[in-house]
Amino acid sequence: MIDPAKFTEEAVSRLRAEVPGKVIIAASGGIDSTVAALLTEKALGDRARAVFVDTGLLRAGEVERVRDFFRTSGLTFEVVPAADRFFAALLGVEDPEEKRRRIGTAFVRLFEAEAERSGADRLVQGTIAPDWIESGGALRDTIKTHHNVGGIPADMRLTLVEPLRDLYKDEVRALARHLGVPEAERQPFPGPGLAVRVNGPVTPERVRRARIANAIVEEEIERAAAAKTIARPWQYFAVLLPVRTVGVLGDNRVYGEAVSVRAVESIDAMTATSMALPRAVLSRIAERITRELSGEVVRVLYDVTDKPPATIEWE
Ligand code: XMP
Repeated sequence: MIDPAKFTEEAVSRLRAEVPGKVIIAASGGIDSTVAALLTEKALGDRARAVFVDTGLLRAGEVERVRDFFRTSGLTFEVVPAADRFFAALLGVEDPEEKRRRIGTAFVRLFEAEAERSGADRLVQGTIAPDWIESGGALRDTIKTHHNVGGIPADMRLTLVEPLRDLYKDEVRALARHLGVPEAERQPFPGPGLAVRVNGPVTPERVRRARIANAIVEEEIERAAAAKTIARPWQYFAVLLPVRTVGVLGDNRVYGEAVSVRAVESIDAMTATSMALPRAVLSRIAERITRELSGEVVRVLYDVTDKPPATIEWE
């Protein structure tokens, strides 16, 4: 485990030595990139500009939450609306690795344009150790191409700066607490967003369903954790499956979709254990998802698989 104060001091001097000019920061609002952004701001001040991309693949309320935080953080930042561009890039794509590559490329093209606008030649990312280990770094097999590692096109015109490259999630959390990041314990959310929680085709309609299902899972699990019915899981979410299934709505047959709910315990995401959630919590989640997405989602499943053999996300 790192010493957060010492790491901060060293990272700031490394950044000052490494970056002579301006940078832009790929800020997703997640803990990793927020910590990377705050370290960069400490080191470079207004030579750094954070860019938050609204991909159209974010969780409910996320754009507002991130904007509010950045406003109080002292960072120079910009919110770039780009949902149309990401949906166009994902049109007709079902393969998870291809999704990550398309998303990685769309991000990089956008950051290149933003960098050109501010005269920057470097891109700061919040990449952490599991991102590159699982992307096949250091002679390992590729498990998933994390969009911010293997998803980067070879012809990218920006030099990468990755101040958290050697850290694990629990270390980044310690750093986040040290730097005063609110919600340092917030659960992780994958950079490719809801695109990897919509198995099969990624359309605005299917992303909307996944967004609503994810919000319900978060609300119900956080409610149960606040009431001390359960310990708050390390990560908890919903996945829209590429399956059509029959249900009933009133007197009518409906042919809808299915959602899988997942809640896991983990320390650093390298391994994970599926949590045994109480039946009452699961039933309430299933009831709300099928009611709030009435006729669209007609079946809810619970994923009891550990990592390994599964991964945490489905894609
Ligand atoms: P897996 O599914 O590989 O996930 O067991 C491990 C952790 O990483 C998150 N994850 C990602 N994060 N880009 C990210 O920034 C990605 O492409 C990506 N894929 C998975 C996942 O949510 C879990 O916390």
